[in-house]
Amino acid sequence: MDRYAVFGNPIGHSKSPFIHAQFATALGEQLQYDAILAPLDGFADSWQRFVSAGGKGGNVTVPFKEQAYQLAERLSDRAKQAGAVNTLYIDSAGKLCGDNTDGIGLVADLKRLGVNLADINVLLLGAGGASRGAIGPLLDAGVRQLVLANRTVTKAQAIATHFDQRVEARAYADIPGRDYQLVINATSAGLNGERPDISAAHLEHCQLAYDMLYGSANTPFLQWAKEQGVPLQADGLGMLVAQAAEAFYIWRGKRPEIAPVLKLLKQQLAQ
Ligand code: ATR
Repeated sequence: MDRYAVFGNPIGHSKSPFIHAQFATALGEQLQYDAILAPLDGFADSWQRFVSAGGKGGNVTVPFKEQAYQLAERLSDRAKQAGAVNTLYIDSAGKLCGDNTDGIGLVADLKRLGVNLADINVLLLGAGGASRGAIGPLLDAGVRQLVLANRTVTKAQAIATHFDQRVEARAYADIPGRDYQLVINATSAGLNGERPDISAAHLEHCQLAYDMLYGSANTPFLQWAKEQGVPLQADGLGMLVAQAAEAFYIWRGKRPEIAPVLKLLKQQLAQ
């Protein structure tokens, strides 16, 4: 049976084995998908052992996405844009290939939620790996302008240099007054019960507030957006399933449906 795995540290709470098992069942694919705890200084060794034992492909999560980027012999354009790899596979020439499906996963989830990205203004909060991976696919989807705002503005400026002039880096206090139809929180502030400190005025035209984090309750950012009257809020659970679906497609050539698996995960989180 073909073997796949997600590599991370910690990895115990990863939902990827469940998600891929659901995909495999739905599509009648025979495969095994495990969660592998790689030592903080031993990702490359862990991957090599997996491949030697017949491993076909892998997902990579915190904190190994940059190391996977270094390890890959071939990188997709979107991995290069993201500066990180979340999906590994070995091509027909035996080369280790690195791709990144996080950003297209986000765009797929936004489409599922009914967002038409063409020609809209987007406010993207945060300038870490999660944010950088999202920018290329959002631009490819046709957004008009993307303001990349971060608490530490220099980090946003450094990321913006990798993209065209549609990406504008700003500090939170310096966000231009525009009609942002979509506001995305790609910071980790919610993990500490916080939200990015932006003015409520930036939500005035917002149709959807999206937080890349997820949990059993609304994140502080989504709760705040709701209080400000933003009509729709969504957390990152759909993005998680959608990035997995794109990885599955890379490995197996079949694209799984997102909605049924998302429904199951929501039920699990609600318990
Ligand atoms: P990831 O790879 O998940 O994006 P990261 O690289 O550690 O994680 O980036 C974390 C992001 O969350 C950064 O944009 C960080 O802002 P700074 O660059 O100013 O540190 C942001 N962040 C974390 N806690 C925050 C908070 N309480 N308020 C606002 N932004 C926060």
